[in-house]
Amino acid sequence: MKILILNGPNLNLLGKREPEIYGSDTLEDIEKSLKEKFPGIDFQWEQSNSEGRLIDILQASDADGVIFNPGAFTHYSYALFDCIKAVENKFPVVEVHISNVHRREKFRRKSVIAPACAGTVSGLGTKGYELAVRWFVDK
Ligand code: DQA
Repeated sequence: MKILILNGPNLNLLGKREPEIYGSDTLEDIEKSLKEKFPGIDFQWEQSNSEGRLIDILQASDADGVIFNPGAFTHYSYALFDCIKAVENKFPVVEVHISNVHRREKFRRKSVIAPACAGTVSGLGTKGYELAVRWFVDK
């Protein structure tokens, strides 16, 4: 099984960026831990700070499933919503947020991409990526 883990803007700074909210794990730490926990999965890792690049990656993906943390684009990118709808017949997309977006600023409580996704994990820290992988494995 091929799973694409796609991270959006500012998530390249994970580990250094507001660690009191996002913790101290870097994207590399998460990648290493998932590879150890799920040796049978072919993981693909992509991160981009640019909305268009995230769309290009999703459109071109041949994964069986996508785990997507779109960062702040979550809250306003109708282009990403449209893109996830456009690829939903190819693979499910699970939305992951490290922080609990419902416990933070009001603008974070709305995810415009959620209605296009299979499901959402929010607020369980970087463990959320692992839980999303587990869903794909058990499905
Ligand atoms: C985030 C939550 C978003 O509101 C924020 O803009 C991020 C990270 C999270 O993983 O908790 O960049 O997606």
